[in-house]
Amino acid sequence: MERISPFLSADRIAARVGELAREIVAGLSETQRRDLVVVVILKGAFVFAADLVRALHEAGARTRVEFIRLSSYGDATQSSGVVTVSAFPPENLSGARVLLVDDILDTGRSLRHARTLLEEAGAEVQLCVLLDKPDRREVEIAPDFVGFTIPNRFVVGYGIDYAEEFRELPFIGFLNEG
Ligand code: IMP
Ligand code: MG
Repeated sequence: MERISPFLSADRIAARVGELAREIVAGLSETQRRDLVVVVILKGAFVFAADLVRALHEAGARTRVEFIRLSSYGDATQSSGVVTVSAFPPENLSGARVLLVDDILDTGRSLRHARTLLEEAGAEVQLCVLLDKPDRREVEIAPDFVGFTIPNRFVVGYGIDYAEEFRELPFIGFLNEG
């Protein structure tokens, strides 16, 4: 595994996910705590979301989980800039409080696109990302909850891939290219 330099350990991630869940629940009304719709962006956010919904439960929220799939990457480490939506199933979002969950906020194109779709469906949306790379931002978008702010380097693990590899790593590491 010399291609990966460890960056965020499984323990550090778990501790931060617990804190995030408590911050998120603290900002919800009693009604919202009873029906928080968590919309997870596939594939990268699936591991983070699995831990986050359990932490949200622990923090006192009841959630409904929905998934959407967006892709802007292909197999490259640079975004193509084109966002495609290959599934948009959530129903009954009118008036719902939605927590939109993604792995990484990079250029911001994917999340801005997803947020717009959910708002058009009548949801009140908050954004939660595990990792934020503010140096890479190309569109204006402000996340409500950020796990870790990180430098502009390519990361893998904890659900995050490089060409579909490394999602299963329990920690997050930097990919050493070349
Ligand atoms: P954005 O539309 O440029 O913000 O794209 C964000 C998406 O790009 C993330 O959800 C990831 O799927 C992918 N991405 C951005 N940076 C990385 C990285 O360092 N490793 C793996 N995927 C990344
Ligand atoms: Mg993604």
